[in-house]
Order: sequence, then structure tokens, then C-alpha cells
Amino acid sequence: MSSGSDLENRYCAQNYHPLPVVLSRGEGVYVWDEEGNKYLDMMSAYSAVSHGHANPRLVAALKAQAEKLCIVSRAFYTDKLGPFLERACELTGQDAALPMNTGAEAVETAVKAARRWGYEIKGIAENQAEIIVCSGNFHGRTTTIISFSDEAEYQKNFGPLTPGFKIAQYGDIDSLKALITPNTAAFLIEPIQGEGGIVIPPAGYLKACETLCREHNVLLIADEIQCGLGRTGKMLACNHEDVVPDGLILGKALGGGIMPVSMFLAKKEVMDVFVPGTHGSTFGGNPLAAAIGLEALNILVDENLAERSMEMGNYMMGELKKLDSAMISTIRGSGLFIGIEIDPALGSAREICERLMTRGLLSKETHETVVRLAPPLIITKEQIDWAVDQIGQVLQELDSIRFV
Ligand SMILES: Cc1ncc(COP(=O)(O)O)c(C=O)c1O
Repeated sequence: MSSGSDLENRYCAQNYHPLPVVLSRGEGVYVWDEEGNKYLDMMSAYSAVSHGHANPRLVAALKAQAEKLCIVSRAFYTDKLGPFLERACELTGQDAALPMNTGAEAVETAVKAARRWGYEIKGIAENQAEIIVCSGNFHGRTTTIISFSDEAEYQKNFGPLTPGFKIAQYGDIDSLKALITPNTAAFLIEPIQGEGGIVIPPAGYLKACETLCREHNVLLIADEIQCGLGRTGKMLACNHEDVVPDGLILGKALGGGIMPVSMFLAKKEVMDVFVPGTHGSTFGGNPLAAAIGLEALNILVDENLAERSMEMGNYMMGELKKLDSAMISTIRGSGLFIGIEIDPALGSAREICERLMTRGLLSKETHETVVRLAPPLIITKEQIDWAVDQIGQVLQELDSIRFV
């Protein structure tokens, strides 16, 4: 392989296991490697590139703002942040937003908001606040966030862990009910789990969670960093069940595939717990991020990307279901957020991704058994047909090796 990967292997912490391809350019749904080979990107940087690589409107917004003003910190007002947050609130039905950069920071912001709301509004005794999370969750990698993961690998030798979290069974309303106490400040949930393997809870579950949380004065906080902003065929995954959470976390696609932009949005009563000095970020809400974030939201609406995700996702699902391979245990998804679950006794999701790569299709396994398919939302039917064809051929190759 080229020096790009050698240098990365030599100088970068080995906290990832990349596929052996060195990418150097991207446009639309495609990326190219150093040798000029073209790949269809079915990963979209874990949903961050929903608008496609180098989206012309976003690149124009980036250039225009970069030439005017990039970073001043929130020690001052800027002409860009207000309009961005206003649009985000309008589109999500929330009252106010707190801009951050990465997803994990926005989740940390939500955890701080929930705890403070628990003490100051709900009246929970000092240091007793509890937050309920879900089995199989993934909310990021900070010390507090890994403390409420149920993945041993994420926690090992990173202790002592942050207390104050309980884990309910994802998709099981009784499990949530059993864990709620007067000290419960919030229930934090991914409406569809991404890193957990594109896991969709039973129909009606999210609505039942909303009802239960309201009954017990518990905040419902939806982490839509990966599944939000059109990915699942609606602007928010919560919209599938007409759920309006008390707190909402966005990231990834909010930065238009150009830079990290995240935010925590909430009802006024929740956001008002933050007063000067209680939270912050040097880069959060900078004018460059705000200009890109606003354009990213406008494109989603102007180009009907959520509706497109629903239409293309349904089409891709239909085509994938026609594939005939013993290795497939299930195919599940919503919009252009699809996971093919591979029976580990018969095949390896990693091997499938490696073989797809050699055919010019980039995807990445999640949880060892799931091939994740989450292309930019601008993908066309023809491109989907080509991708499904490649997947079919790889499954056939592997099936035939196994049966020799
Ligand atoms: C649902 C969810 N929350 C939070 C995060 C963390 O985001 P980041 O990697 O930007 O910190 C991720 C990342 O995959 C995610 O999928």
C-alpha cells in the first residue's frame, strides 16, 4: 500500500481498524483513492456525509464564510449563529439550542442539562440524579459516556467510571418502567441504534417511552446524531412516531460533511438551566460552523432529502431482499439506514466489506456481524442497482467458497 497508510500506521494511535484504502478525493456519492480508483461511499462517515462529498452549495457557504469570519468564540455575538439556531429549532420543534462541535460533546451537554434540570426543576436531592440509557447504546467515547455503555471493550481500563446511570433493555417498555424512580432525571435513547447494528425498536415503543416519561416527569432525550436529519426517511427518526422529545442531540450531517458541528436542543425549561459559566466550548457555534450548518439544514429541506431517503431506502431494501444467500440472517432498516445481519457461523461482515472494497464499494461492518449501508442521501436508483449487484456477487462468491 502507499505511504499514506504507512505513515498513518506509524504515527497514528491504533484506535481504528481501517479498510486498506487510502482516500484522497470525494465528490457526490463517490470517493477516489491515491491511485485514482473510484468507490461508491456507502458509509458516508457514519451519516456525516448525507449531503454528498464536496456538495457545491456547502463548499460555496464554506468559502464565503471563511473569507469573512471564522472563529471569534462566544465571548461575542456573531451574525451567523442566531439564524442557524433559529432554523434548527424551527425544523425540530425545540425552543433553544446549545451549539457544540462533536457528537460526544453534545451528548455530554445533554447529560449536564438533564442532571441540572433534575436538581433545579424536578427537585432531586444533590448528587442523586439518575439517567436511564439503553442496552446496546452508543453515544460517544468520553469517560462519562463510556461509563453507561454495556460494551466491555469500551470501558476496560478506563475506570473509575462515572456513576448515575442505569441501563434499560432497548425496545422493552417494561424494562424502562421498572427502572424509573423519583430520582430519574432523564431517559436517553437513540430512536434507531446505529453503532449497535441498525437496530429498530418495535413499533410504538418510542411513543410509549414518551408517554411514560411524561407520566413520571422524566425528560425524554433523543440522540439523533446518527439517525437524524433525514437519514431514516424523516427529518428526525422521532417523527416516525410523532414523538417530540424534551431534549434532542444532533451532530454528524449537521456539519454537511465538511466540519464537526453538533448541538443539544431542548424545551426552554430545560435549556434555561444553563447560565453564564455553567457550560461552554471555544469552538462551539463559531460563524464558520454556523454558516455551514445553516446551509446543511436548508439543503435538507430544499432538496427533500428526507423524502428522498425514504424513497431510495425503500427501493434499496426491496432490491436487497431479493438477494439469496444463507449468510444473511436479516436485513433491517429505515430510509437509507440499512443493516445486513450476517450469520457469524456462515460469514464475516468484515470479509464482505473487504471484498466490496475491491469492487469499488465502501462500507464498514458494525458489531462484527452487520454490514452497514448508509450512503449519501443524494444516491440515485442506478447507483443503488450497481451497489446491490456488487453485494449480491460478493455473497455468491463467499457462498460458493464455503460450499466447495
Ligand atoms: C448516536 C451517536 N451518538 C453520539 C456519537 C458520537 O459522535 P462523535 O463521534 O462525533 O463524538 C455517535 C457516533 O457515532 C453516534 O452514532
